[in-house]
This record gives sequence, C-alpha cells and structure tokens, in this order.
Amino acid sequence: MPTMTLTLATLAERLKEWKGCDLSKNANPVLGEGNPTAQIMFIGEAPGQREDEMGRPFVGPAGKFLDELLASIGLKREDVYISNVVKYRPPGNRDPTPEEKEVCMPWLQLEIALIKPAVLVPLGRHALGHFFTKLSITAAHGKAQQLPNGTTVFPIYHPAAALHNGSLKQSLYDDFAALRAFLDSKKKS
Ligand code: URA
Repeated sequence: MPTMTLTLATLAERLKEWKGCDLSKNANPVLGEGNPTAQIMFIGEAPGQREDEMGRPFVGPAGKFLDELLASIGLKREDVYISNVVKYRPPGNRDPTPEEKEVCMPWLQLEIALIKPAVLVPLGRHALGHFFTKLSITAAHGKAQQLPNGTTVFPIYHPAAALHNGSLKQSLYDDFAALRAFLDSKKKS
C-alpha cells in the first residue's frame, strides 16, 4: 500500500473531502494556518462568517483584534500557528456542540502533532476544554499549565469575548503581556 507523508498541505486536502461532521454540509473547511514550525499555537473555537467565506481562521473582527494582541507582544501571524477546535462554521455562530467538538478533535490533534509547538494557547472556554475538562477560563486565563507530556498550555480569553464585553479587553492585553514574559523567561532558562 502506498504511504502518504502527512503534512499540513495533505491535511488540508483531506479535510476538504471529509464528511464526518454534519456542519460540513453547509460550510467550508477551515484548517489552521501559519508557521509550520511555530513555537506557539493559538486555538480558537470555530470559524465565523468571514472565516467560512475566506477558508482561513481568524480573519474577521476577532481576528483583527488577535492581530493587534500579537503585535502588542512583538509577534506577527507569520510567527505563530492559528487554528480552531471545530473546522466548520456552526450556523449563526452558535456554540459548537459537544459532538461537533468531539468529531473534529483528531484534526486539531494532527495539527499539534505536525507542528509540535512548545506553547499551546487556547482562546476561550471551548479550546481550553480540549485540554482540561475541569478548568474554567475565568480561573485559568493568563497562567501557564502543564500537560502530562510537558507541553505548556497558556489559556487566554477569546478575543471575540472582549468585542462583546469591553471590560475584558485589558485582561486580554495583560494576558498577552504575561505570555510574552513567560516566553522570555523560557529563552533564558
Ligand atoms: N472565532 C474563532 O474561534 N475562530 C475563528 O477562526 C474566528 C472567530
């Protein structure tokens, strides 16, 4: 049997053909994008309208704010990898269901396995729940956590949350500053 080396490009091709999630009947596939050897990987919830139209993650209003947050700590999109738990837009931007998150999970796991980032940044409670089922985003944001394999998970509120609730904006800037301090401390050690 011929073997196919799995790359981000072949993963994107396979996702286009995948019908395992009911959301794929009415939406376009959105895999992650960015630096294939990124040390930091940001993980959102699911594509929104703009992401569905463009087939790219975080290109709508939440993505614009994410770009600003990255710039605030001297990072560009090209430096990092950005993805989502769910690979298709839920209609009307509703929350993804537990089943939708479950069936999409292998795609995110393959992206993580290919990129091997040192730090995973779940944005919001859905992405945090992929790694820790018992941690709340309110309690865990801005603090480094450790996975059993040694990978660091650094949860942060979802940028869209601050667009709805302005008081969270400063918290996001503060958490990004804490992420920068954490990354710098790792460089020294
Ligand atoms: N919100 C997300 O969680 N992901 C996107 O790609 C865009 C908005």
